[in-house]
Amino acid sequence: MKTIAVLGAGTMGHGIAQVAAQGGHATLLYDVEEGGAEAGLERVRRNLEKGVSLGKVDPEQRAETLGRIRATSSLPVAVSEADLVIEAVPESLELKRRLFEDVEGQAPETAVLATNTSSLSIDAIAQALARPDRFMGLHFFNPVHIMALVEVIRGSRTGEEAMDSGLRFVREIGKEPIVVKDSPGFASSRLGVALGLEAMRMVEEGVADPHAIDRAMELGYRHPMGPLKLTDLVGLDVRLGIASYLHEELEQEHFRPPEILHRMVAEGKLGKKSGEGFYRWDD
Ligand SMILES: NC(=O)c1ccc[n+]([C@@H]2O[C@H](COP(=O)([O-])OP(=O)(O)OC[C@H]3O[C@@H](n4cnc5c(N)ncnc54)[C@H](O)[C@@H]3O)[C@@H](O)[C@H]2O)c1
Repeated sequence: MKTIAVLGAGTMGHGIAQVAAQGGHATLLYDVEEGGAEAGLERVRRNLEKGVSLGKVDPEQRAETLGRIRATSSLPVAVSEADLVIEAVPESLELKRRLFEDVEGQAPETAVLATNTSSLSIDAIAQALARPDRFMGLHFFNPVHIMALVEVIRGSRTGEEAMDSGLRFVREIGKEPIVVKDSPGFASSRLGVALGLEAMRMVEEGVADPHAIDRAMELGYRHPMGPLKLTDLVGLDVRLGIASYLHEELEQEHFRPPEILHRMVAEGKLGKKSGEGFYRWDD
């Protein structure tokens, strides 16, 4: 059993704490907001209760998992005995750099440090670190307790020991790791966004309607969900942000956000969260 510290108890952090504890690890869940870590732990409790009611988690496992997680609002308490620290605070380079500088001074020398960033460069975050060899990316997917994939990101200075520990941890918690080098959009976002943007250009050109384009991928390629429906779920504004970033970083024309995406975001059609995107989302 290892000790895992999860920093940030929001959408991703509470899920990462849950799967770490389910994998048998002593887990400390930290959030800077007063009551934030307890709120994250409450979300874990609700996930597990739902699992029990669906027959996917047995009550004993629920109790054991909850017994392994401790919520704290103290960073030193969270990291001082950690073997692995996983950061899941908001997507800001400055914030992550500052946090890891603090962590480096308070975690054991042997601890592996990982970020769950979905788009920032691992090397850029590691610039603030004295020991970048123990730093890497562990990119989980939402909802963490359900999605099987973890992208394990190797920065240019990530050492073999850290990579081995990260890969072992991912397998221990029952997820499937893929190793990706530190490159914009890693593997998943780069491919997923390319497909989504092409689907939007096809709507723009009148090739087919959104439902038909999605069904082409769902039935023709066995994707569980078509690229436009997925864009509605992720949020058109989020997709626009990632596409603009990839276009800038990779300088490839196919990542230029299409006009239809700019227009829909400007009109407030952000997908499911606003009630309309490529689909209407009412009852
Ligand atoms: N939401 C997703 O679908 C998703 C998927 C993969 C990766 N990510 C990445 O995971 C990270 C977290 O995203 P999220 O959606 O969970 O965000 P979130 O806003 O739901 O949660 C972030 C949490 O961090 C806390 N926080 C802020 N500053 C902190 C600090 N200095 N120390 C400790 N806690 C702090 C906040 O109070 C909040 O509870 C981001 O880097 C994001 O890009 C998100």
